[in-house]
Amino acid sequence: MNFESLRAALPAGDTLDRLHADMERARLVPTWKYVADFVSREPLVSYRPWLWKWDAVLHHLLRAGELITPERGAERRSMEHTNPDLRSGFSTSHTLATAVQLVKAGERAPAHRHMAAAIRFAARSEGGDVFTTVEGEPLRMLQNDLLLTPSGTWHEHVNSTGHDIVWLDALDFPLVNLLQASWFEPGEPGVAVPREEGYSQTILGAMRPTDWLPYPDHHPVVRYPWSEMRAALERLRGAAGSPYDDILLAYVNPRNGGPTLPTIGCHAQLLRPGKATQSHRQMCSTVYYVIEGAGHSVIEGQRFDWAEGDVFVVPNWRWHEHASAMGRDAILFSVSDEPVMRALGMYREQAFAGPSGRQEITAVFDPV
Ligand SMILES: [Fe+2]
Ligand SMILES: [Fe+2]
Repeated sequence: MNFESLRAALPAGDTLDRLHADMERARLVPTWKYVADFVSREPLVSYRPWLWKWDAVLHHLLRAGELITPERGAERRSMEHTNPDLRSGFSTSHTLATAVQLVKAGERAPAHRHMAAAIRFAARSEGGDVFTTVEGEPLRMLQNDLLLTPSGTWHEHVNSTGHDIVWLDALDFPLVNLLQASWFEPGEPGVAVPREEGYSQTILGAMRPTDWLPYPDHHPVVRYPWSEMRAALERLRGAAGSPYDDILLAYVNPRNGGPTLPTIGCHAQLLRPGKATQSHRQMCSTVYYVIEGAGHSVIEGQRFDWAEGDVFVVPNWRWHEHASAMGRDAILFSVSDEPVMRALGMYREQAFAGPSGRQEITAVFDPV
């Protein structure tokens, strides 16, 4: 077949309507008709910013603590921060899902692994040693430590203390599900070869054993102690800081200085007392957890007041700025899909135009 013979066989008296109808039957769609439906001038963001108050979340979690017994799946006693616009995907932003989990004294979550990568943060317990075991290595969970569970790594939780523990989880499962790449595998206790506590810190650190071998795992298992992050923020207190985030530090991959995980970038930031940042928007979505202090963020003209323990989400490409209350520091922890957007060459940032560099507040968030 060539152009000449095909052209000779074209229908006489053809019309555009007939062509469209025939194309439809051939499972072909005219780009000239639909291009605006799949190439938008601005990002089409399908969900709104939202905020979850810590007291309200904890209230529900404690109720679940009474009702969700080991027989009823206590190892999944966790509550997803589900954006009202992303209910079907159970997610907080279009790529990230955060949740709070309650593990009661003596409970154990059996070993398992999955495609979704996870971080755990902000464990709160009333004392005792709390560990999550990742690839056989027990990682201590002191308050606000950050722990990684990279994609495909075995992990299990054992609460051998006499106290209940609550922590924040963040996972990339919405992205994994978008890519249709999810898998999950249960395992027996001890399925991963046991490692000493501190194994990854020793093998990744500046001083290594003389028989050091390249780090064996695809992505390192890392525990980032909060004491070190807090001290690092404090050392920068006198610095100029970022106009959009004040003092902002990234948790990096100790092997290469890259993002925390390939799909989840973690940051901690100090907003010095009475600080009000400028507004910008970023081609990434970010979920914030308030570690300490109080303040508010303005997202697309809406004011979100926050205090310790609250979680809020800034969707992709939405104007946002932050302000701490007068008289005390505010410290925020955040997870974002920025590493994904950077890896794909899609990351962008834009400063808010206007003399003050800040948005006008036109509404105040009310979850009711
Ligand atoms: Fe898991
Ligand atoms: Fe930002």
